[in-house]
Amino acid sequence: MFLNRALLRFAKGNYKNILYTCFLSVLLTVVSTIVALITSVVVRMFLENKTVLHSLGMAEMFGILLGLICLRFFISMYKTKEGVKCGLKIKEVLRKDMLRKLFELGPAYMSEEKTGGVATTIFMKVEWLGHYYMTYIPTAVAAIVNAVVIIGVLFFVNSMVGMVCLLAAVGMLGCPMLFYKVMSKRGRLEWEAEEEYYEKCLDGIQGIVTLKAFGADGLQKEKIHAGGEKLRRTVMGQLKVTMLENGVLEFLGRLGSAFTIGLAAWLVYKGEMDSEVLVYTMFLISACFVPMLNLIPAWHMGYRGVTASEGIEELLQSLPKYFRTREKAVKSGKKEFTGDISFEHISFAYDEAEGEVLQDVTITIKNQTTTALVGPSGSGKSTLANILAGFYEVKNGKIRLGEEVVEASNIEAMQDLVSVVWQEGHLFYGTVLDNIRIGKPEATYEEVVRVAKAANLHDFIMKLPKGYDTHLGEDGMRFSGGEKQRIAIARAFLRNTPILILDEATSSLDRKNEMEIQRSIQELSKGKTVLVIAHRLSTIQNAEQICILNHGKIQEKGTHEELRKTSKLYQRLMGKQLAVEMAGEGA
Ligand SMILES: Nc1ncnc2c1ncn2[C@@H]1O[C@H](COP(=O)(O)OP(=O)(O)OP(=O)(O)O)[C@@H](O)[C@H]1O
Ligand SMILES: [Mg+2]
Repeated sequence: MFLNRALLRFAKGNYKNILYTCFLSVLLTVVSTIVALITSVVVRMFLENKTVLHSLGMAEMFGILLGLICLRFFISMYKTKEGVKCGLKIKEVLRKDMLRKLFELGPAYMSEEKTGGVATTIFMKVEWLGHYYMTYIPTAVAAIVNAVVIIGVLFFVNSMVGMVCLLAAVGMLGCPMLFYKVMSKRGRLEWEAEEEYYEKCLDGIQGIVTLKAFGADGLQKEKIHAGGEKLRRTVMGQLKVTMLENGVLEFLGRLGSAFTIGLAAWLVYKGEMDSEVLVYTMFLISACFVPMLNLIPAWHMGYRGVTASEGIEELLQSLPKYFRTREKAVKSGKKEFTGDISFEHISFAYDEAEGEVLQDVTITIKNQTTTALVGPSGSGKSTLANILAGFYEVKNGKIRLGEEVVEASNIEAMQDLVSVVWQEGHLFYGTVLDNIRIGKPEATYEEVVRVAKAANLHDFIMKLPKGYDTHLGEDGMRFSGGEKQRIAIARAFLRNTPILILDEATSSLDRKNEMEIQRSIQELSKGKTVLVIAHRLSTIQNAEQICILNHGKIQEKGTHEELRKTSKLYQRLMGKQLAVEMAGEGA
């Protein structure tokens, strides 16, 4: 039987349901065996031309048979229902655990893992576990229990017949173990090919706009086709071994039952067995092998279950690369904070081998002031913002929020103080209202309207077909980059934390949109301690402090007035915008 510790653990809390489904499966087999036995009695009555046997008449026999066949039908239906219910429960719990784990692993994990691989694990592998628990386990248990009982009875009837039947059953049940190694290896290859294929499909779907814009859809189609071809080859290879194994098992089953029946007939011929029991023996032998033959297609679910469990276990056992919780992290819901934010000699590398992305960064953001981060592309601005957002842990240096050093034990409480507005907030499936409520799920309709107004979004929303109840993606609804950013701003208004991280849009917005966003951001930043990755002069001019990052180091700090006069790098970075400003001054 294919079982491992992970599969046992995944079913925790559902053992009773699994046992119940197994019991129903055994009951079903028992009823089938009784049907076979009564049929054998009827056959004997026909052969011996009797109307009554063992004090039962023909009509009673047929009545019992009919009753049992009906009972079998109902047990079968009930077993299927219970099996599906149990499988659904296990799948639901597992998916919940996996999603909880993903959230614990955080954005850093998803930036390193392939979405297709994670999606395959959460959806397809878990789906296969459903088949494993609701079909494979009950079928295997019923086949084994049935074989043990019938072989026991056959030993009682005739030890030689019992022994031959036992050998054939051991061969049938043990043979899949011989294929275990090769099937497991091929199973893993099949999952790999499936992950790769889904990754390519997902990439194609998510990148459809870019692919079309660059006329590269043909290239992606080729990649998808190659992935599909690899998957097809892997599945066909696996199928060949499965068919070979099934053939061997079928052969063993048929041969075993024919040989045992032949042996029983030969024993009767030799006068070593009572001819009256031959008919019963024949039906018993076939009742012993039928569930084992039924198990043949289910073995595949066993292999798939075991290999799927490995991927699921790997995800569930993954340790967060950053913030490995030494003590239980606490969520405080705290919104009070009046101190400064200090980055103290921060050095950071995503990968030690690739070198440091931030080197000895020291910045203090005074309470309720704004610090603008500027610097060339790749200089480490987003990395620093991500570190403040709590996505990455620093090994060298410290971040202090007020007096408290940010570490694993208080990271969740520290995150409660921070809101982030990325360039384009992700929009979720649902209404506009639901999307803004991400910032505070318990917010009332009035609160949402208030923040939408503050984010200069209300008028736009009121023009939508169903206002705040308009479904995104449906009703022909699409949001522009600027509108998406304003939704993100509205969320941050709702969340209303004392610390704010802003990643200013680099894409050029039209003047009206830009001014509206600027106004919203200014409103949002009031009374907050802000770190903004800034691209626009207007934002930078309003900041109390500007830090220039270059190759991961703070090259210069100062106000706009100071830097524009003294810093060559600042002049170069702000180039055109500064020139326009200076021209304005000169005029
Ligand atoms: N998840 C990651 N894993 C490994 N390296 C990364 C990761 N994210 C960023 N980097 C690398 O870290 C360096 C700094 O990247 P970062 O995104 O912080 O730059 P940035 O200043 O925000 O650039 P831009 O202005 O283009 O957004 C880059 O060399 C980048 O390749
Ligand atoms: Mg960036």
